[in-house]
Amino acid sequence: MPTPLPFSSFLIFFLGASLIFTPPSSSSSFDTFLFAGCTLQKYTPNSPYPSNLNLLLSRLVTTSATIPYNNVTVLGSSPQDTIYGLYQCRADLAPNDCYQCVTRAVTRLGTMCTDAYGAALQLDGCLVKYDNKRFFGVEDKTVVVKKCGPSIGSDLDALTGLDPALAQLVTGGGTYRTGGAGDVRSVAQCVGDLSVGGCQDCISEAIRRLKSACGPSAWGDLFLGKCYARFTRGATHADGNEDGYGYDANGNDDSKDNNNKTNKTIAIIVGLIAGIALLILFITWLNKRYEKGHGCR
Ligand SMILES: *[C@@H]1O[C@H](CO)[C@@H](O)[C@H](O)[C@H]1NC(C)=O
Repeated sequence: MPTPLPFSSFLIFFLGASLIFTPPSSSSSFDTFLFAGCTLQKYTPNSPYPSNLNLLLSRLVTTSATIPYNNVTVLGSSPQDTIYGLYQCRADLAPNDCYQCVTRAVTRLGTMCTDAYGAALQLDGCLVKYDNKRFFGVEDKTVVVKKCGPSIGSDLDALTGLDPALAQLVTGGGTYRTGGAGDVRSVAQCVGDLSVGGCQDCISEAIRRLKSACGPSAWGDLFLGKCYARFTRGATHADGNEDGYGYDANGNDDSKDNNNKTNKTIAIIVGLIAGIALLILFITWLNKRYEKGHGCR
C-alpha cells in the first residue's frame, strides 16, 4: 500500500514553489533599490568608528521624520574616526515616508556595506551617504545609474515632448524640479548640500546624459553622485497608469508591477497544474486502494 508521505512532500514542494514565484505584495515606491556603493577601505571592528557610525545613522534617521534633507557630523577623537553623513528624500515624499525610506536605506547599508568606511545607497525615495572624508557641498557628477525603458521607435510625433520637458528642468530652479510636455513627464533633484550653481551644473549634466542615452525610450533614469534627472512617457504605460513618473497610485514602480503581475500569473498556473496533478495522483491512489481492498475480500 502506498504511504501518504510522497503526497505531503509534493504539497510542500508546490507550496514552496508558489511562495517563491509570488513576490512580496506591498513594496512601496520609495523602497525600490537603485544603487549602492561602498568604499573598499574597511574600518577595524573594535575601533571607535562603528560606534560613531551608529550614532551618525541614528541621528540621520531621527531627523528624517521632520526634514527632507540633513547633514550630520560626528567628531571622533582622531580625524579618521570623524564621520560625515547626509540623507536626501525625494521632495514629494510625506515626512513619514521619508522616515521609512531613510530607515530602510540605513538597514540595507548595514548589510550591503558591512565595515566600510564610506557608503552610499539610493532608493527611489531617498539617498543616504556617509564617509570619513568631508564631502558636503562637493560636486559629484559620477554616473551611478543609467537605465532606459524600451524603445518607442522612430515615430516623430511620439518623440516630441522630451526636449521641452527636459528644458523645463534646466530652467526650473530650486533643488526639486518637475516638468511636462505632451505625454512626457520629467523630474530632477539635487542633494541639499549643493550650492545653487552646483545644483544647476549637476542637473544640466544629468539631462545632457539622459537625453543622449535614453532619448527614444519610454522612460529614462540618470543618477549622478549628487543629482538625478528622470522622465517617462506617461500615457504609454501598459497598465494604463498615467501618473507620469512610472509609479502607480500606490507608488509601485510600473515596470516592477508588470513583472509582479507576470510572476503572479505564473504562480497561479503552477499552482493550478500542481493541484490538478495532485488530484489525479490522489484519485489513482484511491482507485488502487479500492481495487486492492476488493481483491482481498
Ligand atoms: C549642514 O546642516 C546644517 C544644519 O544642521 C546647515 O546649516 C548647513 O547649511 C548644512 N550644510 C550643508 C553643506 O548642507
